[in-house]
Amino acid sequence: MLRTLLPALSALLLLQTQLSVCLRELRGGGPSPPVVYSASSYSATRQRLPGAVIIGVRKGGTRALLEMLNLHPDVEVAKTEVHYFNVEEHYRQGLAWYRSQMPFTLPSQLTVEKTPGYFAAPQVPARVRAMNPAVRLLLIVRDPAERLISDYTQVLHNRLTRHKPYQPLEELLLHKGYIDPGYKALQRSLYHQHLAHWLEVFPREQIHIVDGDALIRDPFPELRKAEKFLQLPPRISLDNFYYNTTKGFYCLLSAGHDKCLDESKGRPHAPLSAQTFRKLCHYFKKPNKMFFDMVGRSFSWC
Ligand code: A3P
Repeated sequence: MLRTLLPALSALLLLQTQLSVCLRELRGGGPSPPVVYSASSYSATRQRLPGAVIIGVRKGGTRALLEMLNLHPDVEVAKTEVHYFNVEEHYRQGLAWYRSQMPFTLPSQLTVEKTPGYFAAPQVPARVRAMNPAVRLLLIVRDPAERLISDYTQVLHNRLTRHKPYQPLEELLLHKGYIDPGYKALQRSLYHQHLAHWLEVFPREQIHIVDGDALIRDPFPELRKAEKFLQLPPRISLDNFYYNTTKGFYCLLSAGHDKCLDESKGRPHAPLSAQTFRKLCHYFKKPNKMFFDMVGRSFSWC
């Protein structure tokens, strides 16, 4: 009896797999290369365009968010930043190149990519929409003053390792005693300006805001909200996180494996005098308020 039913069962499974591939394409967008079916498992893994993208902000906690989402069994992430939409040389190579940078996934899995450089690049939103107008976007923000110092600290670290000269933060940030609006790292913290470009092409509901400061203090609630936004069943649990006192941050636990983010995440920040920090906080008051109005919520930033 079972033997006579087997061929019909196999055909049914194959049909089901093909159907979910089609549905996935409809949700994730873009045409697909030929699918290779494995006769043993009836699974079809292949590289797919992302259904969700973490667009920024730089130094906001983008790596932590990506790694934490990756705990979910229905999520696969691109291991490195792809910089497809913001680097012309990459963009010129087209969607086939972009897809080739993605992990292999099952039809039921969601591919997620993160490139923080997307957020502040004005040409990117329309390009992302052209790829897939239904793509889900995640934006992780953090106190803009802290973000700026973190940004400077990263650049400083890179220059020191390459034995290049560097300027103290105070020198870059102040001009004749006032905050210099021309400083690049300061501009990257003007979230309302960059978000305005995204809201020209995407509805607000399509952009989920993650609180980067809350993610540092207590990651689980932020992950629960992200799961909900991504329409994933709740599979990330409190047991996936533990506070590592040596690192001073939460680390991840999954299937008996323990993972902390590398030493480039959570470096001690470069010093800045209390007086300049106050000037910086004052400078950000107005732009922050504009950002809060745009997103319909506020944050307890300095
Ligand atoms: P700092 O290095 O300034 O502390 P990104 O991945 O976007 O570059 O962000 C880096 C920031 O992620 C770090 O900034 C750190 O504060 C933050 N972060 C959030 N959760 C973290 C975690 N669990 N482990 C390490 N860093 C984390």
